[in-house]
Amino acid sequence: MLHAGTAPLTADAIKLEEEHTANNYHPLPVVVSHGEGAWVTDVEGRRYLDCLAAYSAVNFGHGHAGLIAAAKDQLDRVTLTSRAFHNDQLGPFVTALAELANKDMVLPMNTGAEAVESGIKIARAWGYRVKGVAAEKANIIVFDGNFHGRTTTIISFSNDEEARADFGPYTPGFRSVPYGDAEALEAAIDENTVAVLIEPIQGEAGVLVPPADYLPAVREITSRHNVLFIADEIQSGLGRTGATFQCDNVGVVPDLYLLGKALGGGVVPVSAVVGNSDVLGVLRPGEHGSTFGGNPLAAAVGLAVVSMLATGEYQKRARVLGERLRVGLEGLIGKGVVTVRTAGLWAGIDIDTDLAPGRVVCERLMERGVLAKDTHGSTIRLAPPIVVEAEDLDFAVDQLAAVLDELKA
Ligand SMILES: Cc1ncc(COP(=O)(O)O)c(C=O)c1O
Repeated sequence: MLHAGTAPLTADAIKLEEEHTANNYHPLPVVVSHGEGAWVTDVEGRRYLDCLAAYSAVNFGHGHAGLIAAAKDQLDRVTLTSRAFHNDQLGPFVTALAELANKDMVLPMNTGAEAVESGIKIARAWGYRVKGVAAEKANIIVFDGNFHGRTTTIISFSNDEEARADFGPYTPGFRSVPYGDAEALEAAIDENTVAVLIEPIQGEAGVLVPPADYLPAVREITSRHNVLFIADEIQSGLGRTGATFQCDNVGVVPDLYLLGKALGGGVVPVSAVVGNSDVLGVLRPGEHGSTFGGNPLAAAVGLAVVSMLATGEYQKRARVLGERLRVGLEGLIGKGVVTVRTAGLWAGIDIDTDLAPGRVVCERLMERGVLAKDTHGSTIRLAPPIVVEAEDLDFAVDQLAAVLDELKA
């Protein structure tokens, strides 16, 4: 939907896109044509600070020289072999990723939803083959407010009616309990429970950060009941929260990590399930796969990503800059902002519902050169690329303050 006065190149580009695209998104009316670091430029030549970073897929910034070089180099060699044959990039990638996660096996896939689906399959197979759950009886515990992707199985255990309605029948075998309530989790576990699938921070729900003792309690409960702890770190992992994994921040080691988004450096889709052979080793040839999973282009870029994370530099930067962002945003509490939740360079900001919906705030921010995304009506999420400069963050906070002042006027 365009605003009156939308510039002509923008209007034309949006019209063309909308005419032939399924209507499953409601983007802000900005048409990006270039990106560099934390900034993007639209078709009119206007610059914007990217405070979404493609939902944390662009953690290392647009056009990161090392990632682009890794991709270009691999483009000239070979891009796709399928896993019917070996390729010379997959081994180095999975070795480095396993080392980064301190696990011994990697299942390479492409999108986040595929990693989640894969984790579910692995947990069920582990339940039947290792734990000894009776055939077809396995259940997995998930959490109210979860977001794990868009496939039919995943939306089967979503509580978001918009994501579910008219897409049934739904996949059985999931139980949802309140997020942050360890007692409710324990009460839901029975002898057929094979896994707990959890976002260490609920991103799409509004960057909900549970109390620091919650994930350790989940770990203790799952270990005691011989239930797998599957951490969906697709959005929270790989530097965003000031650590390699959000689980690191609370001293927890899950049985399986689900990774995606930033693993492909914002260049190609790369996802993975990472775990130890006692769990991931249940998969046998022919049981699971993907034509593109583990392709040499993805592996070359993924290896470059992992090498960057192995230095710890990005995690540290997210921690230091995240503190600056937190202080800036907390300064807006009472001035149109109700609550702020942060973890590293990730923020969920609840806007006073009397002022304006989050969408309107994001539209005003866009007009002021800041791109952000609303969620659940009145919450705005900020997740700038980790390469963002401190002054850029100040700029974003200043623009949000100005928007809130405008709305109050
Ligand atoms: C926690 C989490 N899991 C899974 C997904 C799904 O990833 P994808 O969109 O790549 O399928 C997302 C996407 O936002 C996510 O935030």
